[in-house]
Amino acid sequence: MSIRNLDDLLAEGVSGRRVLVRADLNVPLDKQTGAITDDGRIRAVLPTLGALTEAGAKVVVCSHLGRPKGAPDPQFSLAPVAGRLGELLGTAVHFATDTVGESAQATVAALADGEVALLENLRFNKGETSKDDAERGAFADQLAALGDSYVDDAFGAVHRKHASVHDVPARLPHYAGRLVLREVEVLSQLTGDPERPYVVVLGGSKVSDKLAVIEALLPTVDRLLIGGGMCFTFLKAQGHEVGSSLLEAEMVETCRNLLERSGGKIMLPVDVVAADAFAPDAAHDTVPADGIPSKRVGLDVGPKTVAGFAAALKGARTIFWNGPMGVFEMPAFAHGTRGVAEAIAGADAFSVVGGGDSAAAVRALGLDEKSFGHISTGGGASLEYLEGKTLPGIAALEN
Ligand code: 3PG
Ligand code: MG
Repeated sequence: MSIRNLDDLLAEGVSGRRVLVRADLNVPLDKQTGAITDDGRIRAVLPTLGALTEAGAKVVVCSHLGRPKGAPDPQFSLAPVAGRLGELLGTAVHFATDTVGESAQATVAALADGEVALLENLRFNKGETSKDDAERGAFADQLAALGDSYVDDAFGAVHRKHASVHDVPARLPHYAGRLVLREVEVLSQLTGDPERPYVVVLGGSKVSDKLAVIEALLPTVDRLLIGGGMCFTFLKAQGHEVGSSLLEAEMVETCRNLLERSGGKIMLPVDVVAADAFAPDAAHDTVPADGIPSKRVGLDVGPKTVAGFAAALKGARTIFWNGPMGVFEMPAFAHGTRGVAEAIAGADAFSVVGGGDSAAAVRALGLDEKSFGHISTGGGASLEYLEGKTLPGIAALEN
């Protein structure tokens, strides 16, 4: 890969220079209190930021948070993230209350060598996500004016053709940060020649998000285990009734087709935890996957499924996992995700956990992060990488 990285930039010397770092600080927030519920993505960018401050750079960090609609929206402010970032870095982070305006310009101008600023949410500006090249370019011009060089360490956003990801690197000397480098290194092992058996576990709610990656993975993998909300469309395709479980009716035919072509590689749940309602205290019990009562909603995979998936994972040498097996945020429906995560952690394999949700599940369930080979910070980004798509953020660094 012909990409210059952070070490190249450090070798050129950054003392007193402004380095604009695109990070993915899009962390989950508690809906009630606004508190950060998982700071994994903040911690993941510390190696890059620490190396830059140590070398005396003036570090200007930018990120998106959530999906505001191109205008300031207080619930998506990065202010709480600035606080947490400062705690983790052990140094004050100067927060700009806009992204490229007066506050940003003054904050950056006041930075001393080795200090860090965080700009307000990139997506408070229309230009960041605009489909119009000129509108995106105009915003990229303003952002690029805040740095002398650019480092992309936002792996979770490299699949977005956004100004800060795709257009700023065309305007400044550009480098991959430590996180982006490591993520690409790990994922390229999966698309290259993974050690076999290679087992992939997919979950999460939407089948439509995962079809392309299933297509791309089927020829390569030895087993593909499917759980989570997306499994019900597959169960339906097998001819089973799924009650009021999540169903993407227009995808049933596609799933049937995938099952027919999968050569028996796809493994589906054989039992399901079916509840009265989508609620933490809903009455529930385990039913066979071909016997979901009509008024019930499947919220987790059952114990027989976990045992079957665990057996398939046991002998694996390479594992990729994306997407929880059930509604793990509710303890009653977290057993499937926990069981599968433990089986992955216990396997004698190189294991990669992809995605914001599965990574958050690992931490929320109190599992030891070190028992996984790699925990990716990118959900959509890691899936698109495995699909073999060109990622705008990576392509921009190559140029
Ligand atoms: C993510 O959480 O998947 C990344 O931060 C990208 O966010 P987005 O899906 O809103 O572009
Ligand atoms: Mg996402």
